[in-house]
Amino acid sequence: MGKWRGKTAFITGGASGLGLSIAKQAAREGMNVVLADLRQEALDEALAWFGENGAGAIGLKFSVTDREAFEEAAREAEKKFGNIHLLCNNAGIGCAHGPLWEMSYDDTDIAIDINLKGVLNGIRAVVPRMIGHGEGGHVVNTSSKNGLMPPPSLGLYNITKGAVVSLTETLAGEMPQGYGASVFCPGPFKTNLGMTSFSVPAILRGESPGAPPSPPPPPPPQDGADFDIEAVRSSELNSDEAGRLVFRGLNRGDLYIITHSEFYEGVRARCEAILRAFPKTPPNEAFKQAFSFIVYNPVFSKQREYR
Ligand SMILES: NC(=O)c1ccc[n+]([C@@H]2O[C@H](COP(=O)([O-])OP(=O)(O)OC[C@H]3O[C@@H](n4cnc5c(N)ncnc54)[C@H](O)[C@@H]3O)[C@@H](O)[C@H]2O)c1
Repeated sequence: MGKWRGKTAFITGGASGLGLSIAKQAAREGMNVVLADLRQEALDEALAWFGENGAGAIGLKFSVTDREAFEEAAREAEKKFGNIHLLCNNAGIGCAHGPLWEMSYDDTDIAIDINLKGVLNGIRAVVPRMIGHGEGGHVVNTSSKNGLMPPPSLGLYNITKGAVVSLTETLAGEMPQGYGASVFCPGPFKTNLGMTSFSVPAILRGESPGAPPSPPPPPPPQDGADFDIEAVRSSELNSDEAGRLVFRGLNRGDLYIITHSEFYEGVRARCEAILRAFPKTPPNEAFKQAFSFIVYNPVFSKQREYR
């Protein structure tokens, strides 16, 4: 019997894309599933799959920005399925593009409210209950490859996703025995993110979602390089893959769940740039011992390399 069978997963942004894929994989693992999402039609559509496949699932409509609603949803989920064992803080939106100094205050607030505070709200509402039941549990927070290597002009998205990496690394070190946390850092997947990044902020502002603007043109070739756009797009994974990758990471005990090798060089360059910046003076060993908890987070040494 698999370790997830009979347990309960609570997944935000669970009605679409990566969240729905994680939810379907959770159901395949024998879990009961709570789909949390802001869009009722998407929830209804998503729930049909669970009904057809005889999986236990409910949909709860609320925004992850609404703290009271999140607490109420956690209570509702427990009433239906009992204890929660897997929390996936996955709801998020794409943010306005451009240099940080051009971002409007509204765009800044909505990005942080959903992509960062939404994750913190989930941790606050669900983790004490999870620890309280004592049966073990795990939190998966969806960041992005941008959380590991922030490219220019995507600053709002980068800062929220970078913070999700940092908070998950912190959380993983704080969770008691039998509990853990992982950060999901996807590269490009085919999902509804282009549409929901416009419709969700509109819904939260009480406006009609309307039609999203046409997708932006592909980025121009760099340094005059020529490329075949179809070949480029083939690196975009089908969202069905996401759930399988997340559960593979969970079962291996991965802190970072990473999907695309294309970003390896960029992340390595960042890590190496940070290491190069350290002073070459010998460290004060007494300081290191006295403040060992700020000098080293043991969660990093537990990570294995897979081929
Ligand atoms: N698709 C990609 O290429 C990609 C890459 C990296 C990271 N991500 C991240 O993956 C996560 C899921 O995105 P996706 O690509 O599956 O998009 P998606 O639009 O298909 O799914 C996201 C879901 O989250 C819901 N949602 C958004 N804001 C919400 C809120 N405030 N409260 C409740 N529900 C809310 C939406 O209604 C939607 O159903 C996001 O955090 C996104 O930033 C996606």
